[in-house]
Amino acid sequence: MTVDKIALVTGANRGLGRSAALALATRGVRVVVTHRGDAAGADTTVEQVQAMGGTAAALRLDISDVSSFASFTSELGAQLERWGTSRFDILVNNAGVGVFGPLETVTIDDFDTVMGTNVRGTFFLIQSLVPLLAQGGQVINVSTSLTRHASPATSVYSASKAAVEALSRTLAAELGPRGIRVNSIAPGPTATDFNGGAMRDDAGMRQVLAGQTALGRVGEPEEIGDAIATLASEGMRWVTAQRIEVSGGALL
Ligand SMILES: NC(=O)c1ccc[n+]([C@@H]2O[C@H](COP(=O)([O-])OP(=O)(O)OC[C@H]3O[C@@H](n4cnc5c(N)ncnc54)[C@H](OP(=O)(O)O)[C@@H]3O)[C@@H](O)[C@H]2O)c1
Repeated sequence: MTVDKIALVTGANRGLGRSAALALATRGVRVVVTHRGDAAGADTTVEQVQAMGGTAAALRLDISDVSSFASFTSELGAQLERWGTSRFDILVNNAGVGVFGPLETVTIDDFDTVMGTNVRGTFFLIQSLVPLLAQGGQVINVSTSLTRHASPATSVYSASKAAVEALSRTLAAELGPRGIRVNSIAPGPTATDFNGGAMRDDAGMRQVLAGQTALGRVGEPEEIGDAIATLASEGMRWVTAQRIEVSGGALL
């Protein structure tokens, strides 16, 4: 049985993950929507995909719980089987957390949460799921524009995403011979719940950020989702080991 391309998007119950899922679905990609407990949010994403004539399913996955990855891989395999295949094509590592504050306020728990989620979780999820990736498949890791420009009080978060970018490049070299490409997308400030919703709700912050951005405003989630879906598309098949910033030209 021939099936469409299939993507898995982590943290797709809201925010950029949901936007990526919808943008992929618009382009005919089936989507596995993962969430770490917000089943209602994930169901909404699935319903939105279905409303546009697409196909999606929700699975639970906490990317900080590396010990659950083996059983998650089996659950994913079972879902793929229900769709008549044993492989998927696009892994979007979107789920992530930020803890923001100056050097002296960051606790060891904060550090471990950010690194344990963004770096450890992303790395071991790739390790677990690459065996299910189809020939010609790909991994897209969500980073941040903060790996290029420095902003005070973002050190641990930025460092975690810099690590994600470094592992993306190295894994591109490692997995290239298997036909798998690996890239990172680096959003600039975007209007989601992230950072307490500040980029969406704090008018003062939005104004400051707009003044630092070539295109003169904060990004919208759909703009990141579209970029992820475009990077995932056939027209980008020769692109690997790249960091693509989607920030409207933040802090140039
Ligand atoms: N918005 C921005 O300005 C911006 C800029 C650059 C990069 N990013 C990156 O873009 C990605 C998505 O951010 P967003 O703006 O959509 O933020 P968001 O609205 O806060 O969403 C974060 C998503 O990650 C999920 N998540 C967090 N920890 C998780 C875990 N341990 N296991 C599974 N899922 C987990 C959240 O799940 P819950 O709903 O359960 O919390 C949620 O789905 C993140 O990697 C973030 O670092 C965002």
